[in-house]
Amino acid sequence: MSDKWQECMDHCVEVTKQAGKMIHEALQKDIAVMEKSSPVDLVTETDQKVERLIISSIKEKYPTHSFIGEESVAAGAPSVLTDDPTWIIDPIDGTTNFVHRFPFVSVSIGFTVMKEIEFGIVYSCMEDKMYTARKGKGAFCNGLPIKVSGQKDISQSLVLTEMGFKKDAEHFKTMLANVRRILTIPVHGIRSPGSAAINMCLVASGSADAYYHMGIHCWDMAGGAAVVREAGGVVVDISGGTFDLMSRRLIVASTRAIADRIAEEITELDVGRDDADGQ
Ligand code: IPD
Repeated sequence: MSDKWQECMDHCVEVTKQAGKMIHEALQKDIAVMEKSSPVDLVTETDQKVERLIISSIKEKYPTHSFIGEESVAAGAPSVLTDDPTWIIDPIDGTTNFVHRFPFVSVSIGFTVMKEIEFGIVYSCMEDKMYTARKGKGAFCNGLPIKVSGQKDISQSLVLTEMGFKKDAEHFKTMLANVRRILTIPVHGIRSPGSAAINMCLVASGSADAYYHMGIHCWDMAGGAAVVREAGGVVVDISGGTFDLMSRRLIVASTRAIADRIAEEITELDVGRDDADGQ
């Protein structure tokens, strides 16, 4: 059984490299930008092409497996996690960065079996960093082992989160109030690199101590969650409870103490679920 998933992981690394090449080529050309759910929710032809490349390559090898891909869901495919072997794909995590050529753009793929993440791959394209993690086997960046900082003191921490425009005024207010509460603990600083998957890999490699977010999707979280866990970090719900891949919210941290401290400060928002339509 385990060899079978290792074979899937090896294939995933290969297809992620091809996806990375496609993104590098696209960065050399003009990028036509389209809007999805709002003027700040962007998509490009490259997001769609890369997702098609990844899914067709995996489907050819594993025709019975299931898929949840950001652009397929945007085009109407279901977003429901089952017990099947499932590939959860974000072809470009950090599309806004890609459009602006801001250097944090990634391909993120997580693979689940019985709803548990078996492995995760995140390729940070412009940094040329391939993060890989298989359950129980550790986390790596370009083949070298990585681990979290181990920081336990929130006041010595660098914290990541993302801030986007929210149409709902209450959401906007709460999101900014949360940032203020974290900053005034105080922490060393807050950063917003713009790719959830890379944010998680930054925590996994000890460059940041925590990342929290409400309103992201399973394809933003699946690959990076594997990398953080295998690097010795914790992945929990924004409340501090058990992480749920379809919940659209998480805290990742170098230690449980930091995750709990962030959970204590955060006012929760109702962000819905990725599988709400399928329930
Ligand atoms: C986005 C990035 C970003 C986060 C957004 C996500 P996408 O993913 O992860 O950091 O703030 O909420 O949607 O749309 O570029 O794949």
